[in-house]
Amino acid sequence: MYSLEELRHFIKQAARDLEVAREPRELYQPIQYVFQTGGKRLRPVLSLMACNLFNDQVEQAVMPALGLEVFHNFTLLHDDIMDGASLRRNQATVHKKWDQNIAILSGDVMAIMAYEYITNCPADVLPDVIKIFNITARSVCEGQQYDMNFEKQIDVSAEDYLRMIKKKTSVLLAACLQIGAVIGGASRPDAEQLYDLGLSLGMAFQLQDDMLDSFGNPALFGKEIGGDIKSNKKTWLLIKALEIANQGERKELVNLLTNKNRDEKGKVDKVLSIYNKLGIKELAEKLVQSYFNKARKNLNNVRVPNERKSVLQNLTNSLMNREK
Ligand code: IPE
Ligand code: IPE
Ligand code: MG
Ligand code: MG
Ligand code: MG
Repeated sequence: MYSLEELRHFIKQAARDLEVAREPRELYQPIQYVFQTGGKRLRPVLSLMACNLFNDQVEQAVMPALGLEVFHNFTLLHDDIMDGASLRRNQATVHKKWDQNIAILSGDVMAIMAYEYITNCPADVLPDVIKIFNITARSVCEGQQYDMNFEKQIDVSAEDYLRMIKKKTSVLLAACLQIGAVIGGASRPDAEQLYDLGLSLGMAFQLQDDMLDSFGNPALFGKEIGGDIKSNKKTWLLIKALEIANQGERKELVNLLTNKNRDEKGKVDKVLSIYNKLGIKELAEKLVQSYFNKARKNLNNVRVPNERKSVLQNLTNSLMNREK
């Protein structure tokens, strides 16, 4: 069994060998830039942990795990264009540091690299791995489109939001765990249990991301606080606020969402003050906790000895109070 630090080291080593010292530099430099800034590396670590539940040969899962991280970083490049975001991991986003075309094309080549690395897995599991990944990648795009659609819609329900974040975020965490498990030789029920664990974890993770976007510490979070509010993202926070607000507060929120001439900082402050008055953060925390509880149950159901589960359980626990 490997520790979290050891598994991170595998990823770090593999990331160092990323084939980015290529021409044209304009295409590859942004990839180098993005990878140097790191990020939490949650997805590849989850994948290796899932493999390691069943198998001590985690080396065979390293390239696919790196591929999944490359895919994640590709989605971030394009997501930052779509969200008009200037800051990520405390650094300028690629489309700001270079330009939008660079971010599109570097993202595209990252998607191809993701396929190259993910398919670098044991031949007997390759068809399963590709199938899981294809379904996942398509779902992420669908989720992202719903996310964009919802910016312009006012009547988005909590169910709509939860369905959207399942697609844009949860399925990738789920796929990372399932692919790792499949490579590790897990039985189908165990691999599916880990997929479900990833779904629950992903729901909690995106809800937390949305909370941090409103209430986080900017230095730790590394992204602009209030970005979701500025772009009228239909987060659970906003949907819940619209649902439980009194008539006056609701009217003010709807005004803030529809009035284009308002100054952005003023808008963020006003929405936050309504969130605070309504105790939205506390309500969201309860929902986050319910997803962590589900994830714990999923892990309980995986049929390996408990001592093999502690690394993954500890990582899950550490995510509960994350600030970045
Ligand atoms: C950001 O993912 C996108 C979401 C799904 C919320 P992470 O928070 O895992 O980003 P990095 O890779 O650690 O920067
Ligand atoms: C991103 O959701 C999900 C994907 C990248 C697919 P967000 O737009 O909330 O992610 P951040 O906050 O920019 O990292
Ligand atoms: Mg974004
Ligand atoms: Mg987004
Ligand atoms: Mg976000």
